[in-house]
Amino acid sequence: MSDVIERARAAMNDLTGKTAIVTGAARGQGAVEAELLAACGAQVLMCDVLEDDGAALAETLRGKGLDVRFRKLDVTAEASWAAALDEIADWTGRLDVLVNNAGIINRKLIADMSVAEWSAVMNVNATGAFIGIKLCAPVMAATGGGSIVNISSNSGFSGHYDPAYTSSKWALRGLTRSAAMEFARQGVRVNAVCPGLIVTDLNRNSPHLAPMIGMTPMNRSGEADEVAQLVLFLASDGSGFITGEDFVIDGGFTGGAAYRRVAQETGLL
Ligand SMILES: NC(=O)c1ccc[n+]([C@@H]2O[C@H](COP(=O)([O-])OP(=O)(O)OC[C@H]3O[C@@H](n4cnc5c(N)ncnc54)[C@H](O)[C@@H]3O)[C@@H](O)[C@H]2O)c1
Repeated sequence: MSDVIERARAAMNDLTGKTAIVTGAARGQGAVEAELLAACGAQVLMCDVLEDDGAALAETLRGKGLDVRFRKLDVTAEASWAAALDEIADWTGRLDVLVNNAGIINRKLIADMSVAEWSAVMNVNATGAFIGIKLCAPVMAATGGGSIVNISSNSGFSGHYDPAYTSSKWALRGLTRSAAMEFARQGVRVNAVCPGLIVTDLNRNSPHLAPMIGMTPMNRSGEADEVAQLVLFLASDGSGFITGEDFVIDGGFTGGAAYRRVAQETGLL
């Protein structure tokens, strides 16, 4: 076996000895991300506000031999984060990976949205990640550095019919770059993953699913597994020289779906 393959496999797939926090891990993409990181050897603290679902999932994953714990954590509450870090200090004594995945959506136009509704979305999606980075990055730095992955969206690249959600996802991209600059010399990398349509409980009943898939150049939605594999790469040492970047994973939607539609309608494609 060639040495370069051995090094690549170890760097990208082996998280042995690392500790990770994944927020919004009780279901959906966060659940798959937590399982994959744990399956690659990490000890994973799965966090969510959905206590029963999260505890049950952690139990199932432990049954598969994975070293995971569940903890109720509201990403908007600083005290909640501090308590999670206390648990990590007692459990493994280090933190290497943070996946800021928790997110909510409220599909209302600006004209129909109250300030309280706007703030609720911004608080979970943007402020929650800010608090996570603020509290976790110094802990990572103290144990040799680490990797933070913020789950933004391809909505963070355009205007959208979800103005609060879209604004929060643009904010996450700005936060990602700013945090990457602030913590680079402390060995903490910060990147953003920007998925397109992934069918989960967040959007399962949305009338937008079919038109979104139709507009997606690859003509399908993405899978939570596919997002988790990108998160794993960014969490791992295989991405060791990457920080402050956005990674769009959307079947070509952001790459040029609008121009592709024009080409289709004019008979070019
Ligand atoms: N599904 C998609 O098409 C899509 C596309 C782009 C980005 N995303 C983003 O991916 C992430 C995961 O979404 P999903 O599709 O798995 O949806 P989901 O609704 O299944 O999962 C989101 C999780 O976040 C948790 N959560 C909500 N508020 C929380 C809080 N205050 N504290 C802690 N946890 C909280 C929820 O309980 C839930 O378990 C979100 O950030 C979402 O915005 C989703």
